[in-house]
Amino acid sequence: MAGSCSHWWHAPIYATISVILAVTAISTSYHPDTKAQIPHSVGSDSLNLHKLSLSLNASRALRREGFNFMATILLISPEEVLPSSESTIFAIQDHDISNVSLPPWLMKDLLHYHTSPSKLSLEDLSKKPQGRCIPTLLPGKNLAITKIDGQERKVEINHVLISHPDIFVEGPYSIHGIPGPFTSFDPREIEPDWDFIRSPICDSNGSLVADASEARNRVPWSRILRLLSSNGFISFAVGLHGVLDGILRDNVDLSSVTIFAPPDLAYVGSPSPLLETIVRLHILPQRYTYRELSLLPEKASLKTLLPDEDLQITSEVSFTGTVSINGIKITTPDFISSQEFMIHGISRALEKVKLSTISR
Ligand SMILES: *[C@@H]1O[C@H](CO)[C@@H](O)[C@H](O)[C@H]1NC(C)=O
Ligand SMILES: *[C@@H]1O[C@H](CO)[C@@H](O)[C@H](O)[C@H]1NC(C)=O
Ligand SMILES: *[C@@H]1O[C@H](CO)[C@@H](O)[C@H](O)[C@H]1NC(C)=O
Repeated sequence: MAGSCSHWWHAPIYATISVILAVTAISTSYHPDTKAQIPHSVGSDSLNLHKLSLSLNASRALRREGFNFMATILLISPEEVLPSSESTIFAIQDHDISNVSLPPWLMKDLLHYHTSPSKLSLEDLSKKPQGRCIPTLLPGKNLAITKIDGQERKVEINHVLISHPDIFVEGPYSIHGIPGPFTSFDPREIEPDWDFIRSPICDSNGSLVADASEARNRVPWSRILRLLSSNGFISFAVGLHGVLDGILRDNVDLSSVTIFAPPDLAYVGSPSPLLETIVRLHILPQRYTYRELSLLPEKASLKTLLPDEDLQITSEVSFTGTVSINGIKITTPDFISSQEFMIHGISRALEKVKLSTISR
């Protein structure tokens, strides 16, 4: 292992530094809810003392069970790690968390993904139906209950068994211990805009649609949305965001995509079947570089995420040097790309050719 950046990940020095940096990162960006679950009559000094005492107790309980990493974080910075409102924290066992090689800003995301904004004891969790999603402090990222065995008091979340239930259930907090993180990732992929948390896909009712492990959909959609918005394709990003649930539901297997991003998109007001149709028409379930597109013969068809609706190459590369799709020019080829996606800017939105099939 002789990567140029491998000096980042050397435990135990790394572990200690990452605790401190994680705390710093959290304290500079974390905005806890103001809804404190503490009697109103208590003055703010004693309120802080109460919280401090709670966090000391929580830290002690964690250390007793061998969760030294989380115990230390709680001790160094209780104000920042414990939200003031109700919460459930899933503490990751030392062996795994100390070996997690993440820079602090990602460590913060990881900790937030392991905190849910409501107090759930093991009993509360085991009363929920299997397949129920649980929100976390990371917007848009859920956990999902993947298995419950009421008699054995066994609950699995994201396929990870809660090995140390109810380590601490006091005041507004519940803390459970888990053997490893709820998400797996490859530290070698770290990059600034990295959306490394692969969470289960849930519908708007909080029911599991596709497991993170089942969802072989490897396309980093949140990153795509961010990149589209920050590069001026705002209406397309809004449209895509609005219909993403449906796309995910139908394309559990997607491993790569090509996106033709138009500067403007109509109908983005609210998610509708028409919007979904139009957005799907701009996405191919396969990654094509500009060069690969230009090598395709004229009139070649390209499968889209809209069943039965292919796009057609209508380019005259040899004459104009540009590839066109359904008569619309690719203006910024290979604009943004990664291993899983390729975004080409196009001059205007594509249209469905056979309008008669829009509403079936
Ligand atoms: C912390 O633990 C001590 C000793 O068990 C207890 O007296 C105290 O009330 C606890 N603090 C809180 C805030 O629960
Ligand atoms: C990290 O993982 C290695 C190999 O699995 C293990 O030997 C080592 O003890 C772990 N480090 C810590 C700090 O737990
Ligand atoms: C959510 O629940 C409502 C009412 O039970 C139901 O009509 C709707 O179809 C559900 N939505 C999804 C996405 O399952």
